[in-house]
Amino acid sequence: MNYADELKQLIEQNLYRRLRDVRIIDSSRAIVDGREVILLCSNDYLGLSSNKEVIDYAISDVSSISQCSSRLVAGNDPMLVELENRLAEHKAKDRALVYPTGYMASLAIAALVDEHSIIYSDELNHASIIDACRLSRARIKVFKHNDVASLEEELLASSIITTSSPSRKKVVVTEGVFSMDGDMARLDEIGRLCREYDAMLIVDDAHGDFIYGSNHRGTAEYMNAEHCVDVIISSMSKALGCFGGYIAGSKEVVEYLINRSRTFIYTSALPALFAKAALKALEIIKYGIIKHDGKTLHLQDRLIANARMLREALASRGFNLKGSTHIIPVLIGDEKVALEFASMLFKHGIFVQAIRYPTVARGSARIRVSVTALHDDDALKHVADVFSIVGKDLNLI
Ligand SMILES: Cc1ncc(COP(=O)(O)O)c(C=O)c1O
Repeated sequence: MNYADELKQLIEQNLYRRLRDVRIIDSSRAIVDGREVILLCSNDYLGLSSNKEVIDYAISDVSSISQCSSRLVAGNDPMLVELENRLAEHKAKDRALVYPTGYMASLAIAALVDEHSIIYSDELNHASIIDACRLSRARIKVFKHNDVASLEEELLASSIITTSSPSRKKVVVTEGVFSMDGDMARLDEIGRLCREYDAMLIVDDAHGDFIYGSNHRGTAEYMNAEHCVDVIISSMSKALGCFGGYIAGSKEVVEYLINRSRTFIYTSALPALFAKAALKALEIIKYGIIKHDGKTLHLQDRLIANARMLREALASRGFNLKGSTHIIPVLIGDEKVALEFASMLFKHGIFVQAIRYPTVARGSARIRVSVTALHDDDALKHVADVFSIVGKDLNLI
């Protein structure tokens, strides 16, 4: 493999990625390459990462930066156990297990199956789930995105194999809110099928957790499908504004993961100060409010109102949007045009990324806008106006 040639090819195909200098002010603003801009690509959806109460609590009484050890060696700080108890309560599951990142939590799917299992995976699942499938050595069946009929077809097609060897485990895995399409999995329908075909349902709700549902337990709660979900995977570096990942499920699943999950065992524990930050943020997601137009709103309600406002403004200006949530993908198509779009937005003081292959399919490049609870109305109006100017310049609208 010639790295220089491959890199040249990436540039020619408009698929080259480069690092920018980004200093976050809060979830709505940043200084990028020395310029203050509106930030539209943070996953800190509720703005908790810059919350003073969270920061103060995280760094109070710090005696070490990290436990510098695996959980099973000397890394099991009581703050992690406390956090796991609170996360299990949050998810209404028996137990939870914290991982150093959400990516590593997703990879743990590989530990829950073996080479005799079958995994049914949504075609748009996140790279971390795809990697887990590959690592697992299980048979992989990919179903059409959020398509219940396609999932049923796959379940039916393999029922000959599974009835002849009933010990073969069947696992359906999907995201809750899809990270690059901004839509919600039809968990009620998918859950029903899982019951019918005796399959385990695993949901990675990294982008819906702490936001949706009346107790902010995420997409499954919002869809009234919690009873159908066996294992929930999530990240604490999105709406919780912290860092790390976790899995919630039955006592047996968590005990099993402690004993078998390589991304839990063979790596250092999440530093306790991040666990403290997450504990405080978990309290705040229950009562966190923000002032708007003289009224006080829950952070989640403000986020959803912001998302609705920006979605309506962009759609009415003629943009082709995907999904229905706070993740607002503006479909562009061509990779070169998407890059140009992002670069022109930056010139107008808006920082957002062009999402291209292999994160999404070739020819379906998009600007992935994520609004947060901290964006104010003026900023969002300005964003819609600037998108309109750039969209017209590039003949997109
Ligand atoms: C669906 C999904 N799962 C897992 C992850 C990984 O989470 P983390 O950033 O905590 O590693 C992401 C990150 O973007 C994601 O979108």
